[in-house]
Amino acid sequence: MGNVVVIGSQWGDEGKGKIVDWLSERADVVVRFQGGHNAGHTLVVDGVSYKLSLLPSGLVRSGKLSVIGNGVVFDPHAFVAERKRLEGQGVTIDPTTLRIADNAALILSIHRELDATRESANAGTKIGTTGRGIGPAYEDKVGRRAIRVMDLAHPESLPERIERLLAHHNALRRGLGQEEIETSALLEELTSVADEIVPFMDRVWRLLDERRKAGARILFEGAQGTLLDIDHGTYPFVTSSNTVSGQAAAGSGLGPGSVGFVLGITKAYTTRVGEGPFPSEQDNEVGTFLGERGREFGTVTGRKRRCGWFDAVLVRQAVAVNGIDGLALTKLDVLDGLEEIKVVVGYKLNGKTIDYFPASLSEQRQVEPIYESFEGWQETTAGARRWSDLPAQAVKYVRHIEELVEAPVTLLSTSPERDDTILVRDPFQD
Ligand code: IMP
Repeated sequence: MGNVVVIGSQWGDEGKGKIVDWLSERADVVVRFQGGHNAGHTLVVDGVSYKLSLLPSGLVRSGKLSVIGNGVVFDPHAFVAERKRLEGQGVTIDPTTLRIADNAALILSIHRELDATRESANAGTKIGTTGRGIGPAYEDKVGRRAIRVMDLAHPESLPERIERLLAHHNALRRGLGQEEIETSALLEELTSVADEIVPFMDRVWRLLDERRKAGARILFEGAQGTLLDIDHGTYPFVTSSNTVSGQAAAGSGLGPGSVGFVLGITKAYTTRVGEGPFPSEQDNEVGTFLGERGREFGTVTGRKRRCGWFDAVLVRQAVAVNGIDGLALTKLDVLDGLEEIKVVVGYKLNGKTIDYFPASLSEQRQVEPIYESFEGWQETTAGARRWSDLPAQAVKYVRHIEELVEAPVTLLSTSPERDDTILVRDPFQD
């Protein structure tokens, strides 16, 4: 039995929540290893819908241990609110079901404010963030001045840590014409919530190492997607963490050999929220059709997602940078009833044909997609649980995608319901 890492192979919102939930039934431990409460995973279990942002999806199943790894930026107030909301739905969240890495960096109110200030400052520099303070919190982590989960257990040293952090932030705030923050205000913000966090705190690297040695199956739950990765994405229109599979090791404290099967969650078309390049975007009736049929609105911010055709160049690149072993293809049913379906198979750039997505923003904006056209299918694929339930044209579409992106389909999801899934191969058995 190996472990599995689930990552998004596009711009996030590929439908990871359902797949993670489906896999978490087979896992013993579920770990978040990057991002924070910018993620939005919707799980539908027995007809009840659970919305998770910061917490690992394993929590909605009993008997699983959920872990927030060191690679996550952790907002203590968002944690308290999400915990309360889920407990209201009958989910048990206590130190027997959840552990939080002592070395994870915190998101504070100053980070949320800075995120909002930057986003409102100038339309030209707007990223279209989720406004959760993710970027500023990671900046402080890399700048070696972050306050971390473990600091909450040491109130005596908090003032010193806060002063160090504020030396940076107050200089910024003065420059922005904003009021400076007093040490006492941040101290109050942190001490008011410390008792709710400290009982969950753990040496997660050791806990995971022990579980691994005992033969536990670990599911690493990625958030966002490869094209939002700080290195591999559409920089600067990205999130501030590495979202690729390699981060599962660094962001949880296990070695790369423990990561196991890499499952790339892939939507049968493409969407993105926020600003930035999107070569196959359909700002027309096709985009409206996909958005309405696919209910493409953000779980976290409620924003309307931009929609377009499947881009095989982007996903093939994601297969390479993540080492994707298999795809979980989602939302095929959204394409039901279309006369024609298009897929991007290459780009034109300055008169040349290229088979990759360039790293430069200006080139990403310039590329012109080369489309291949498919005949659609009129039957429904929704709720299919066997290949034989699918129309022949739909199977042809899936097979062609496999060829184009150079990875096999391991799972096919045909509705938000967890059992509406065609399993080709169990990633945990690999
Ligand atoms: P941030 O992560 O809030 O800094 O936002 C940076 C970019 O990542 C924006 O384009 C967001 O819309 C996008 N983003 C962040 N989290 C998600 C997600 O879970 N799904 C899809 N897009 C996301």
